[in-house]
Parts: sequence; structure tokens; C-alpha cells
Amino acid sequence: MEKVNQAEFWQQRYETDSIGWDMGEVSPPLKAYIDQLPESAKAQAILVPGAGNAYEVGYLREQGFTNVTLVDFAQSPIEAFAKRYPDFPAEHLICADFFTLSPEQYQFDWILEQTFFCAINPLRRDEYVEQMAALLKPNGRLVGLLFDKAFGRDEPPFGGTKEEYQQRFQPHFEIEIMETSYNSHPARQGSELFIQMRVKA
Ligand SMILES: C[S@@+](CC[C@H](N)C(=O)[O-])C[C@H]1O[C@@H](n2cnc3c(N)ncnc32)[C@H](O)[C@@H]1O
Repeated sequence: MEKVNQAEFWQQRYETDSIGWDMGEVSPPLKAYIDQLPESAKAQAILVPGAGNAYEVGYLREQGFTNVTLVDFAQSPIEAFAKRYPDFPAEHLICADFFTLSPEQYQFDWILEQTFFCAINPLRRDEYVEQMAALLKPNGRLVGLLFDKAFGRDEPPFGGTKEEYQQRFQPHFEIEIMETSYNSHPARQGSELFIQMRVKA
């Protein structure tokens, strides 16, 4: 379990192409979410943590979102992304541990969750919630997908339930949406919750 806290574990997964989570495309529910955002949202500060190959970041970029930042502590996918999007601002490609990002330095209007929560050590879930809340501006939101199933293994992905998420997030977030995603990728149909939560003042 400890190993998932280490960049080397994930870097090696990329180097050996052991990336079963990688859909090779923007996640359909997140694409649909992005597509319905108004033009005025395109300048908002957005963070995609644990972005991996970052198809969502690429999609946001292609749609004209101008202030998107990704963080991942594995170097390979960031390098690959920078090759695919050579004009993407280098200072918005952060190779670092999400838990060390300084909220004094970074503040976002919204943060996009996509198979990052399930990748961290479950013992760090409250820390994840606190760090997400700290990185959001007042009224900022956390949007994305969380698995709604148990995987029953001692390695990622680590699953969970709606009840657990409600308990963990409610101290810091108003949960506006937490419901079974109707437009998931076929491989994840019925097994993920779409979430939208607003940070509490
Ligand atoms: C399961 S993968 C998901 C990648 C991507 N979101 C996707 O859906 O394809 C989890 C990603 O989170 C990154 N990661 C895990 N823990 C991290 C941490 N503490 N800080 C930064 N990145 C982390 C890993 O390097 C990996 O790229």
C-alpha cells in the first residue's frame, strides 16, 4: 500500500505500459460536462490532479480553456503530453506530489477528479479532501467521477461507496451532485458516480 505514495511506482507503470486505467480518450461524462460549460468559464483556473496522460487537459485545451494546470508526480506522461501539446504553458505542467502543492501559491475555480482518488492510499482520503478544499477558491468546486464499487484488492484502484464519500467530503464540501453516471465509458458503465461539490466557506 505504501508504494502508491511513491512516484517511482507510477513512473514504472508508465515505463512498462502497465496502465490498465488509461482509456486513451477523454472520459465521456467529463467531456459532456465540459461541453455544457458557458463561454465565460474558459478563463477559469482549473486543476487536473493525477492527470496521467491527461486526455481531459488536452480536451480542455482544444476547446479553448486557457488556464488549465495539471499535476502528476510521474514524469513520463507529462513529457508525452508536452510533446502532443508543444504550445501548452510549461509552468502549468507540474511534476510534483499533489499533497505538497501549496494552497498559498495555487488556487483554482474548479478541480477535475478522474481516477486519482482511487489511486491514492485509502489511509490518505481525508488528507485528499482537505487538500482539495484548500486548493479551491471560495465557492470553488470539485467535479468528476468516483468509483462506486469495491475492488477488494490491496493495490489500486481502491474503490468506495457513496456513503463513505458523503461522510468524508461533507465536513468540507456541499455535495450538489453524487449520482450514478449515465454516460460512462462502456467499461465503467454503472460503476462510477458523477460528483459536483462546492467547497464550504
Ligand atoms: C490511476 S492513474 C490515473 C491517470 C489519469 N487520471 C487517467 O484517468 O488516465 C493515477 C495517476 O495519479 C498519479 N498520482 C498518484 N498519486 C499522486 C500524487 N500523490 N501526486 C501526484 N500524482 C499522483 C499517478 O502518477 C498516475 O498518473
